[in-house]
Amino acid sequence: TDATSDLFTLPKAELHLHIEGTLEPELAFELADRNRIRLPYESVDQLASRYSFTDLQSFLDLYYATMTVLRTEDDFAELTRRYLRRATAQGVRHAEIFFDPQAHVSRGVPFEAVVDGIGAALAEAARDQDVSGGLILCFLRDRPVVEAEQILTTALARVDTLIGVGLDSAEVGYPPSLFADVFGRARAAGLHAVAHAGEEGPASYIGEALDLLEAERIDHGIRAVEDPALVGRLAHEETALTVCPLSNVRLRAVPDLTAHPLRSLMDAGVRVTVNSDDPAYFGGYIGDNFVAVQDALELTDLDMMRIAQNSVESAFAPLDRKVALL
Ligand code: HPA
Ligand code: ZN
Repeated sequence: TDATSDLFTLPKAELHLHIEGTLEPELAFELADRNRIRLPYESVDQLASRYSFTDLQSFLDLYYATMTVLRTEDDFAELTRRYLRRATAQGVRHAEIFFDPQAHVSRGVPFEAVVDGIGAALAEAARDQDVSGGLILCFLRDRPVVEAEQILTTALARVDTLIGVGLDSAEVGYPPSLFADVFGRARAAGLHAVAHAGEEGPASYIGEALDLLEAERIDHGIRAVEDPALVGRLAHEETALTVCPLSNVRLRAVPDLTAHPLRSLMDAGVRVTVNSDDPAYFGGYIGDNFVAVQDALELTDLDMMRIAQNSVESAFAPLDRKVALL
């Protein structure tokens, strides 16, 4: 429809996107063949049929297992090329891409292969498709803190390849406070800070991410609605939430899209953005999330423009780039 194509062409920044979560079943099989790795599935369709989840952990189990087909710099470049092709077709003009280096380095893949592969595809797309972007290294919060310290040390030797650090993986039981020192080091090196908080974990983790990690944006953050004072703080401080509606439904953080708190957060004055999280696994890229959420929550075209504008305003991009996209 026209409404769909308008939402797809609306210029937007993608601020919550795990590059490993863009691995479509077709590419997983191509890379498995190329790298002589056996996936425990008979076919693309059989793998695709497993993309059905009951909670965050049930997704993470498949996500970490499937990403083992990513081995070389060119694998990461091809993954990123395919993501950027789909994303630009849905209006993405700036992409801040999360990656999980601990999940690769622990399998013997060099940090440099990961950042150079993703970086090469981003540079090509900047040249050919007018999309800008950068890389945000995510620490795996359900792994020992010392491992995060070690990957940060490795990463700081190539700090030029990064724009920031984040925090992801299984949330409940792994509060942001564990990572206060790691984030302090990253910020001292000039990196931006974001953190997943309040997806499955309690609203108190959002406050911790703001106070102890000095997170500049909160990834997901939807459980903020349980704490009106926190909602007031987020609105007052103009902290962006990088909300991922289709992800929240697929991982059962919300019962269905009509029950999604995005609209009440927006109405309370919170700077909400809409993003795709792990689009290969959750049934849609960013434009698909815009369409679904507008429909389910009866948002106006102006609301959708506001959401797209929020994403550009909240990006870690140079001011002249933001001005060009607004
Ligand atoms: N939450 C936490 N960790 C993740 C996610 C998510 O939605 N996607 C990939 N790693
Ligand atoms: Zn995420």
